[in-house]
Amino acid sequence: MKGLILSGGKGTRMRPLTYTSAKQLIPVANKPVLVYGIEAIVAAGISEIAIIVSPETGGEIRQAIGDGSRYGAKVTYIEQDAPRGLAHAVLTAEPFLGKSPFVMYLGDNLLQHGITPLVEEYRSIDCNSEILLTKVPNPSQFGVAELNGAGKVMKLTEKPAEPKSDLALVGVYMFDERIFEAAKAIKPSRRGELEITDAIQWLLDNGYTVHPHIVKGWWKDTGKIEDMLEANRTVLDTFDRDVRGTITGSQIEGKVIIEEGAEITDSVVRGPTIIGRGAKMNHAYVGPYTSIGNGCALEFCEIENSIVLENSTIAHVTGRIEASLIGKNVKIGRTHRKPAAYRFMVGDNSEVGIT
Ligand code: TTP
Repeated sequence: MKGLILSGGKGTRMRPLTYTSAKQLIPVANKPVLVYGIEAIVAAGISEIAIIVSPETGGEIRQAIGDGSRYGAKVTYIEQDAPRGLAHAVLTAEPFLGKSPFVMYLGDNLLQHGITPLVEEYRSIDCNSEILLTKVPNPSQFGVAELNGAGKVMKLTEKPAEPKSDLALVGVYMFDERIFEAAKAIKPSRRGELEITDAIQWLLDNGYTVHPHIVKGWWKDTGKIEDMLEANRTVLDTFDRDVRGTITGSQIEGKVIIEEGAEITDSVVRGPTIIGRGAKMNHAYVGPYTSIGNGCALEFCEIENSIVLENSTIAHVTGRIEASLIGKNVKIGRTHRKPAAYRFMVGDNSEVGIT
């Protein structure tokens, strides 16, 4: 069995971070979202993995993941010329996948219990495809599956206005080679993409078997900033305390991870929280549900429920920073120039909130 991770796409909902970086490399609890996917596939006993990348972000993803050996995988990269849909991505990978059954994993998804139960079930039953479903309160924002009384999949609808069930498609699927036939038979949707829901519907309509698997535990799609912060909270909650680095005159409370080389001076860190390698804190407060990346520096500031990417600096900010996603190498600080005024150099589509 092989693995296919979809890590192309436009990432419009995560702009401005996605102007310069792949959204799948944004860290949750200081680990890129994409790495959770690779680890879940390897844990299910699959080591031959292809990652679909876009021409814009392929280089960065290759650099971050390499040949996959550090995760126990053999990773191949496949460039998709443009984000023409999930079923188009599957077709792009046909030469790699050949006749092998495979798991397809959306590179911005996170599952609490991984995918081993799904892969094992697919291996043990005879079906062409298996889809992962979970109950959601707002099904009209997802691909929705209708099952009959016997629990058989009858129909899939992409973002229905009037959903017939509350079972949403989670971003992990099992397929055999029939999916190529399906993806070649369907037409692009109104948004101009080859939809995977249409391809699976084609399988159903043509007498192939699609088995539902209801997911146990949480599942997060990290397509938007709120989802990212929620995923960060959920993952941080699962960690145990592990405090390294150099701590001087500071209070370290609760489930806190402080990595090697971090220096915490006259500060308060309240978990669940992670402070990355070589990060520095001086007279700072990092509150619950915050991930501070490697090499960041925090001085005379307070932050909680946020993600700060590597090598960013926050200094002398009087109000508490909350529910924020701060990119790499960002500088937030005080200026002593006259006139006393806010000074910004902020990229396109950024958001700055001031009280
Ligand atoms: P989406 O989040 O649905 O799409 P997107 O990444 O373009 O984001 P946005 O809606 O914010 O513009 O994609 C789910 C995953 O699949 C994500 O990891 C990107 C990947 N993908 C591809 O690899 N190829 C594609 O053609 C598409 C549509 C998505």
